[in-house]
Amino acid sequence: MCGIVGLTGSNDTLNQLRTALAALEYRGYDSAGIAVVDRAKGRIIRHRSALRGAAIADLGSERMIWPGDVSAGIAHTRWATHGAPTHDNAHPHVDCRREVAIVHNGIIENHRELSTRLVAAGHVMSSETDSEVIAHLIEEALASGLSTRHSVRAAIAQLRGDFALSVLFLHDPELLIAARRTSPLIVGLTEHTAYLASDIAALLPITRELYALEDDEIVELRPGTILITDAGDQVITPRPLEVTWDVTAAQKDGYADFMSKEIFEQPRALRETLLGRFDGSLRPDFEELSIDATALALVNRVIYLACGSSYHAALSAALATEQFARIPASAEVASEFRYREAVLDQLTLVVVVSQSGETVDTLHALREAKRHGARVIALTNVVDSVMTREADGALYTHAGPEIGVASTKCHLAQIALLEAFALHLGWVRGEVEEELLREGAIHLLATPDLVERALGSAERFLDVGRRFHEVDDVYFLGRRVGYPIALEGALKLKELAYVRAEAYPAGEMKHGPISLIEPGVVVVVVATRTSLWEKVMANVEEMRARGATVVAVIEEGDHETAALVDATLEVPGTMEFCSPIVDVVPLQLFAYAVASARGNDVDRPRNLAKVVTVE
Ligand code: G6P
Repeated sequence: MCGIVGLTGSNDTLNQLRTALAALEYRGYDSAGIAVVDRAKGRIIRHRSALRGAAIADLGSERMIWPGDVSAGIAHTRWATHGAPTHDNAHPHVDCRREVAIVHNGIIENHRELSTRLVAAGHVMSSETDSEVIAHLIEEALASGLSTRHSVRAAIAQLRGDFALSVLFLHDPELLIAARRTSPLIVGLTEHTAYLASDIAALLPITRELYALEDDEIVELRPGTILITDAGDQVITPRPLEVTWDVTAAQKDGYADFMSKEIFEQPRALRETLLGRFDGSLRPDFEELSIDATALALVNRVIYLACGSSYHAALSAALATEQFARIPASAEVASEFRYREAVLDQLTLVVVVSQSGETVDTLHALREAKRHGARVIALTNVVDSVMTREADGALYTHAGPEIGVASTKCHLAQIALLEAFALHLGWVRGEVEEELLREGAIHLLATPDLVERALGSAERFLDVGRRFHEVDDVYFLGRRVGYPIALEGALKLKELAYVRAEAYPAGEMKHGPISLIEPGVVVVVVATRTSLWEKVMANVEEMRARGATVVAVIEEGDHETAALVDATLEVPGTMEFCSPIVDVVPLQLFAYAVASARGNDVDRPRNLAKVVTVE
């Protein structure tokens, strides 16, 4: 997804901008650009590149001539939404007089209307983006005599949609102005330099003095200083951001790629996430949550909202919530929930689940839930993310930064924390017996060790994956707790290996998809010893009878199941509600092996972004 960086006051502006852009590369991008003020010549110099996969490096190539005397600069990695990923659509964009340059993340929903008005007033647009209008709006405001800050304020007052933006001014070459609404933006300081970025990863190597910006606040950056004003133009005290990650945590640790590193970090991610969630008597401890137990006990329904892998974690959470808290619970895709005129009220608890805390569909779903008066908890992996700031309460997975685009360790940490939360809900509502609670806690707290044990068979899982690397069509089947696992296994295979993979509740196959089963089709089934094991195996028989090749996730030493299938992925057994945490592991490695054998880049699968900040 798009990334923004900017800085003023450095004597190494261009290198610092390029390094910061490179730190954002993992989010996915298709083009990049930088603008600086050439003080000697009194011009804004801008270079952009749409060189696929190498645009950032291209900005440092010899064909880009940069000025020597540069005070401030802004830079951008773009992920096309409006207009193709071309040189002309790459940011920064400039106004007609080339006195203002802007970079923007997000979507300006009313850009057509604004553009029509601006063009009628004589402005010339040179891109197909929704972003360019911002430069012209600022130009218009400056021409009317407004100050730089008030011009930016006048411009953003006309914008509908989400944005994080930064502006560079020819006539005030040490100044950068930045603003945000919904899209993330942070600022950082060192003694002589001020920085801004859309992602903490860009600034962590430079400084830990970081500050958050809220919606419609504007920050003016000058060398070594920042000045923040709120929507009412009042100066406010900067809010320091708490940062617990270090830069090395975001590096590969000797693994071939981030994905395998992150898969092997899963036991640690689980341990850290579960740390302190149960007290000495194994009672849930959710003190960090600002919604107290009395309020939680009154809730009459829980809705989990999320996208992608987080949605699959949410599905497991809904099952556990109904099981332990005996309260209606469901999981929904955030982008659907947002538009479906949901019926909720103050007694509905909404839990948004998002690794990044930034996914725009989930963020809007959160806002929709709040609009209806529901209480909202954000469960994220990023301290101080946009969602946590807007929710009534926050829960954090402590999985550390996840760089691989396809979620692995954060997904497992989400399930574990959600399951612990389901036990907590059951406890505060008096629905879960002390003994069941203890048993649940013991099993949940054992999952890091079980995942570690499962990872001991990684080579075997990879071998099975390699064996099937030429497959074209795969079905993933599961029932009850096994169904979200099947969904996640299929998603991983699609994301990483680009193989058509469909997940189905096993019992539903006979209502249609079974007509597609024939020799050559591979069926991956979650067949661990849960309460529905026999039913699952009956479904497996139906697949085998029609010639499918069956790969099964089974419990270690389960020879009975192994004898009925063509290949096995063996994992340790656990209590049913914990099985999604353990059973997903071999499916991650299965997809990894198929993808690697096909020569795919597992960290950066095609067409995908780590954080989806556009609708
Ligand atoms: C993208 C990522 C997925 C992730 C989803 C939701 O699609 O590629 O791995 O599950 O976004 O992200 P979130 O940050 O909200 O959990």
